[in-house]
Amino acid sequence: MAKIYHKQLVSSKAMVDAAHKNKYAVGHFNINNLEWTKAILEAAQASNTPVILGTSEGAIKYMGGVKVVVGMVNGLLDELKITVPVALHLDHGQSLEMAKKCIEAGYSSVMFDGSHLPYEENIAKTKEIVAFAKKYEVSVEAEIGSIGGEEDGVVGQGELGDPKQASEMAGLGITMLAAGIGNIHGKYPEWWKTLSFETLESLQDAAKLPMVLHGGSGIPTEQVQKAISLGISKINVNTELQLSFRDATRTYIEARKDLDDEAKGFDPRKLLNPGFKAIQNTFNELTAIFGCKGKA
Ligand code: 13P
Repeated sequence: MAKIYHKQLVSSKAMVDAAHKNKYAVGHFNINNLEWTKAILEAAQASNTPVILGTSEGAIKYMGGVKVVVGMVNGLLDELKITVPVALHLDHGQSLEMAKKCIEAGYSSVMFDGSHLPYEENIAKTKEIVAFAKKYEVSVEAEIGSIGGEEDGVVGQGELGDPKQASEMAGLGITMLAAGIGNIHGKYPEWWKTLSFETLESLQDAAKLPMVLHGGSGIPTEQVQKAISLGISKINVNTELQLSFRDATRTYIEARKDLDDEAKGFDPRKLLNPGFKAIQNTFNELTAIFGCKGKA
């Protein structure tokens, strides 16, 4: 069977393989709406940077469903004349049904996150999605261990990945592997000190595949760059763009520009513009740190 996805999308495979070989990381940026998507695509094109657009199940639901996301992204690729490599990726797919649904709707990359399942089930389901995705030339990300994050107000550290599992996962034919290496989704709490580089090294030795760093917001630059030198080839960022958008929007509102009716400061095209530009600035800063800027 042939690819389902739009001719301008690519799978993540060539992007992350090149990054792995040349020791940089491709940015995976989560999109939340039209402004996010357009801001990222324009900035990627302007800087000649490959990019992975990530959508969590929650964001897909928020935007109206997979068809809305696929239609919006493909429409922007055409209308903005985007020529840099762009993958549309399901982030933390929780079920095989959802991963298959995304592929059939036109995604070019999926993550099946079976990290909360018993390990044998994670393996079996990952194997199934690899076989399914292969028919459509769609890349697959799997996860072992777990990423820390907030649950009921408590921020957990997550569970470190196990090298034996990393090697078994790699053997299934996945494109890239996410693993718990002390990383956390959302803002890093005060007590957090460092990624576990020993864990990353042993997982990389075992898997020999591009590795994915989730929770890419707010990790000190030296740690990000060390992680890249040890095999991280894709870095997922959501919170950092949200904070940039929030700060710029807050400045606009605190300057009471939204209340300037004469200048139509209430028009969403004006109200959302500072946040839009802030997303682009943060994209440019992060892609420079990740080393993927200009690598299209
Ligand atoms: P942050 O929100 O911490 O950047 O994490 C994003 C992420 O890992 C999405 O998969």
